[in-house]
Amino acid sequence: MSDFRSKIDEIDARMARLFEERMAVVECIAQEKKASGRPVEDLEREKSMIEKRCSEISDERLKGYYAAFLRSVISVSKNYQTDIIHEAKMPGHDIIIERGSLSSAGRLLGICGGKVLVVTDSGVPAEYAKAVAASMQGRASEVLIHTFEQGETSKNLATYSDIAQALVSGGFTRSDAVVAVGGGVVGDLAGFVAATFMRGIRFYNVPTTLLSQVDSSIGGKTAIDFVGVKNIIGAFHMPVKVLIDPDTLATLPARQLHNGLVEAIKMGATSDASLFELIENSTDLLADTSEIIRLSLNVKQAVVCADPKEKGLRRVLNFGHTLGHAIEASCGGRYIHGEAVAIGMLPFADEPARSRIRRVLEKYGLPTSCDMDAAAIRDLISHDKKASGSEITVVRVSEIGSFRFEKINIQDLAL
Ligand SMILES: NC(=O)c1ccc[n+]([C@@H]2O[C@H](COP(=O)([O-])OP(=O)(O)OC[C@H]3O[C@@H](n4cnc5c(N)ncnc54)[C@H](O)[C@@H]3O)[C@@H](O)[C@H]2O)c1
Repeated sequence: MSDFRSKIDEIDARMARLFEERMAVVECIAQEKKASGRPVEDLEREKSMIEKRCSEISDERLKGYYAAFLRSVISVSKNYQTDIIHEAKMPGHDIIIERGSLSSAGRLLGICGGKVLVVTDSGVPAEYAKAVAASMQGRASEVLIHTFEQGETSKNLATYSDIAQALVSGGFTRSDAVVAVGGGVVGDLAGFVAATFMRGIRFYNVPTTLLSQVDSSIGGKTAIDFVGVKNIIGAFHMPVKVLIDPDTLATLPARQLHNGLVEAIKMGATSDASLFELIENSTDLLADTSEIIRLSLNVKQAVVCADPKEKGLRRVLNFGHTLGHAIEASCGGRYIHGEAVAIGMLPFADEPARSRIRRVLEKYGLPTSCDMDAAAIRDLISHDKKASGSEITVVRVSEIGSFRFEKINIQDLAL
């Protein structure tokens, strides 16, 4: 008896592996049906498939049982396809936040066929890109990794050209894909290459800094810097899916973690008091990141959906940025982006919101003031692309969780 049991165990184990293999293919079929709008059910095909398969069974007594078995397999497959198609229709389906998910990236991103270029930079732990690439084996026909030198200075035409060269040398076509694994620099660059290569190929983002997880990975903005001007060449190109693994933040230096946190504080201050309170009261930031990311993305997604091409509402995301950009530019590299935005938020918040924002910034060791040459700052703001003449529209927070736009005269700006 025990021999039979172990034999059945062995067969079931083989069937479990075959089941997974079969469902991976079913998933690809579901993606095709979603893209073409074909229905999940095809009764004619099911009937002929059952007949064909049953003809392969030599034992006549088993044919009927096998037909019943196939019918239940088809039913499970159809449920799975319906779930995939339905899930893909839900808003927000394209962002997955899951701890420890890098090694399942291929499945979670829904990679089915075609070549994949994984783009990363030298500062991102190499095992992240390797795990993502390994998860695509058997799903993509070929997976290559391209690594460029870390830092904003790489966000240029030369690096763009190197990545495009990797696609050309690798024989990539329009049915292939680019996957970014890294912070905002990798996402912006790889996204811009994907937006322009053969007039646009599929792009997936696996952001690994807090800034890219709460902000830059969604919204579809891609860009490179040119002739010293940040993000001056770019395109809107939405990622097919974004996979966020908050565990990647464990290797991120604290300064970079807090740099990204400023964007979450900004979204809480302007649009979600509960997000602000979560950051305000957190006793273990890394443990709370999944929820902070989820709430921040809710805010960003709502804003981006309402204003995809940055014509109006999306400017709320600029809270703290008008002054922040000027501070970043005038302080000779002393402050990284988030730190400059931290300082830049305070003059545009009214009491008691201002004190709460200040306390939360201090809690995470972020700067709240700096020695600035007010005249130089006002001059820089007047050259901001959002300025018109001597006036500029800024975002003001009077109460945590809400905002209003306010047109101000740049010379009246109290710094
Ligand atoms: N597209 C948008 O909507 C948008 C929005 C905001 C900012 N941005 C852009 O994002 C860029 C800034 O992004 P960023 O702050 O993520 O900087 P970044 O991409 O330069 O990353 C910061 C540093 O952290 C390293 N790193 C990344 N992940 C890591 C990890 N998990 N562990 C250890 N080190 C890691 C990187 O190698 C880099 O040295 C800017 O170029 C900015 O213009 C784009």
